[in-house]
Amino acid sequence: MARSSEISGFYKLTTAERRKFVQEWGGLTDVEADAYDFPPGIDPGILNRMIENVVGTFALPLGIATHFRVNGTDFLVPMAIEEPSVVAAASNSAKVTRATGGFRASTTQPVMIGQIQILDVPDPAGGRHRLLDAKDRLLKLANERDPMLVKFGGGAREIEVRIVPSPRGTMLVVHLLVDARDAGGMNAVNTMCEALAPEVANLAGGRVVLRIISNLAVYRLARATATFPAEKLATDNATGAEVVEAILDAYTLAAVDPFRCATHNKGIMNGISAVVLATGNDFRAIESGAHTYAAFLAKDDGGIVKPLSTYEKDAKGDLVGTIELPIAVGLIGGATAVHPAAKANVKVLGVKHASELAEVIASVGLAQNFGALRALATEGIQRGHMGLHARNIAATAGARPDEVDRLVERLIAEHAIRIDRAKEILVEMRRTGPS
Ligand code: MEV
Repeated sequence: MARSSEISGFYKLTTAERRKFVQEWGGLTDVEADAYDFPPGIDPGILNRMIENVVGTFALPLGIATHFRVNGTDFLVPMAIEEPSVVAAASNSAKVTRATGGFRASTTQPVMIGQIQILDVPDPAGGRHRLLDAKDRLLKLANERDPMLVKFGGGAREIEVRIVPSPRGTMLVVHLLVDARDAGGMNAVNTMCEALAPEVANLAGGRVVLRIISNLAVYRLARATATFPAEKLATDNATGAEVVEAILDAYTLAAVDPFRCATHNKGIMNGISAVVLATGNDFRAIESGAHTYAAFLAKDDGGIVKPLSTYEKDAKGDLVGTIELPIAVGLIGGATAVHPAAKANVKVLGVKHASELAEVIASVGLAQNFGALRALATEGIQRGHMGLHARNIAATAGARPDEVDRLVERLIAEHAIRIDRAKEILVEMRRTGPS
């Protein structure tokens, strides 16, 4: 009989019971199931309260990017990511910027948008004005829902009302603008939108459906700039000036071609998501916001998407990189405040405000992007990947720790970083003994 995933009361089992169930379901050996173990230093109770149906943890490598200087302060940047070369690329790029003072970064006020969708308003233009006229009362109502946020200098600030044509009739969409201070803002904004909904429906004379934050946080932007000196970019085969030109060529394809732009922005998110994740923030929210913002930037010139960064050559011939995107990260609330490793990472960063964290994250995004473009415009991306990739292949082929280095050397020398070849070489190495 086919197995059923319809398991009533799965959530009521203990973690160990759930783990046992899943182990049997998946036919996992004890050793395979041990991969789910809670690491020492992490209280399982904390993780159990974070999400539902917990069976253990999924451990990612945590790397530290070095050499970062942002607004005159040095940072060690924790990055949680599964991809090789990302941490090294960020560190190398940050090193290049030190000669010109590192990254300069800034943020707008931490203002989030909450949306309230209203349908069936007989007079949308009139409804819009009734809502705008009631602004002070609506803001007061919203702020009553979060006195703590107001006490810390945040709170609901403004109301915008959009008239949005749709296949289901013209809708009114209220945007409640909320200064979230050092929080990500999701809970505060959603609570306020839900609280306002009845009054908003009443004023508009329609019915409310959605009441939810928008991840397109166009009022909560982070910006970073850095100058990459041409003299630091020279390679064995190209002068620094030639590398600057090649990077400008590479960047320009992203500016004119959505197929390249997607990959260009993905490289930026390699850096951004790794820090967002390491600090316990919502990387899906940041990614969705970033990619939608990239599309939003293109709306005025009829394009589909724009790069989140720009590159130019300054009067001295050095490369100037800039980045701007919504970065709605928080330091209070959410996983950042409870996950022990996230808390440790925030302490290592030493950031005191969410805005400072966003500035570091924007800088890492720019560093990552520059690192990728520099590699792509010179030797190509693969060489940098090869060392770690070969180590993975060597381990998968069954190499013992004392065999890994020799096997990796052989794989790289042969330009054959493949599991079948790794196994063959391993057999040969074991036959001939240590060289
Ligand atoms: C790979 O994860 C990221 C890159 O493809 C980014 C880029 O092409 O700019 C290297």
